[in-house]
Amino acid sequence: MKKVRFGIIGAGGISNHFHIPELTKIEEAEVVAVADINRERARMTSERFSIRHCYTDYREMLMREDIDAVIVATPHPTHAQITVEAIKNHKHVMIQKPMTTNSRDSAWIVEEARKNPDLKVMVLPFVYYDTPIYDHVKSVLRNGEIGKVCMAEARTSHGGPEKYMQEVAQMFGEEVNVWFFSAEKAQGGVLLDLGVYSLTRLVYLLGRAKKVSALVATLDKSSEVDDNNAVLIEMESGVIAVAESSWTQTPGQNTTSLYGTKGTIHLNYLGYDIAIFKEPSGWAYPNMPKEKEPQHTHRHFINCIVNDTTPIGTPEEGHHVMRIIEAAYESAKYGRIITI
Ligand SMILES: NC(=O)c1ccc[n+]([C@@H]2O[C@H](COP(=O)([O-])OP(=O)(O)OC[C@H]3O[C@@H](n4cnc5c(N)ncnc54)[C@H](O)[C@@H]3O)[C@@H](O)[C@H]2O)c1
Repeated sequence: MKKVRFGIIGAGGISNHFHIPELTKIEEAEVVAVADINRERARMTSERFSIRHCYTDYREMLMREDIDAVIVATPHPTHAQITVEAIKNHKHVMIQKPMTTNSRDSAWIVEEARKNPDLKVMVLPFVYYDTPIYDHVKSVLRNGEIGKVCMAEARTSHGGPEKYMQEVAQMFGEEVNVWFFSAEKAQGGVLLDLGVYSLTRLVYLLGRAKKVSALVATLDKSSEVDDNNAVLIEMESGVIAVAESSWTQTPGQNTTSLYGTKGTIHLNYLGYDIAIFKEPSGWAYPNMPKEKEPQHTHRHFINCIVNDTTPIGTPEEGHHVMRIIEAAYESAKYGRIITI
């Protein structure tokens, strides 16, 4: 099979810890070039992974004809501009979460992607939930095995991005700069950074949201952006859902719970990947593989490109999650329920 040739935009923590190591394990992938406005990061990353070309201007890299696809792994406010330029240069694009920082930008990506239906534009983190466990949950829901789901919760939390940013700075021999805490550089806090996971899980399992109300606060961090929030959602199906995210919690959590009239599902809860209560059998803790295949995120994207199939995490789906996040910020600001 012909290799899919990648360019990486943003040579920071997530590219060095996740994207490039994953791609180097996939025979059908080749990382041709890396771009970062920080020259040293681009250079050190290209040396670390023996990547032949490095750039400080991603636009120059996008002009290369030997690049088929790019991964956008820069700070969130830059995702839209870079993605649109990549599409205009006829590249497939994988966009790091959060897709953008507002729904105007995510709508822009949707529009440009629609003009180029031959390109695959994949929005994270939807594909992270394409696992045997989530497939099982979807089939349990489809078959009505826990009855009618009336309520749901999703929580994503950890102790904050500082330690991670410190480690990334150390990797490059730099002073730490926690841009995640900057209103200008991040354009939002934990709701963008971790709330996107909680909301994606709810949308992935339960469909679209209709009404949103939220409390968003900065309670502990020396941060210009939020560090805790709770988002109350009425889904289109009528399900009442709560999505929470926090940067002030230890140990971190990544939980999802679905409450049906005949049963309950807890995902990633107190040491269990999945716990299901069904009447009359009671609690069960089925054992399932955690992932479908190693490097699934990147293999899935490559398969979509090679086989011309739709990625899990379309621009439209990402845009819907961005609308919920934006509505949550608006609700918290004005103290109102926002209809999406
Ligand atoms: N598990 C995950 O999926 C996960 C984990 C961490 C971060 N992320 C996301 O990935 C993105 C990047 O986060 P990170 O932790 O790698 O941050 P980082 O600060 O470590 O890396 C970002 C890099 O982008 C570079 N950059 C900034 N503007 C640029 C531009 N215009 N052109 C080229 N390079 C540019 C910076 O110099 C930096 O090296 C964020 O949106 C973040 O939310 C996802």
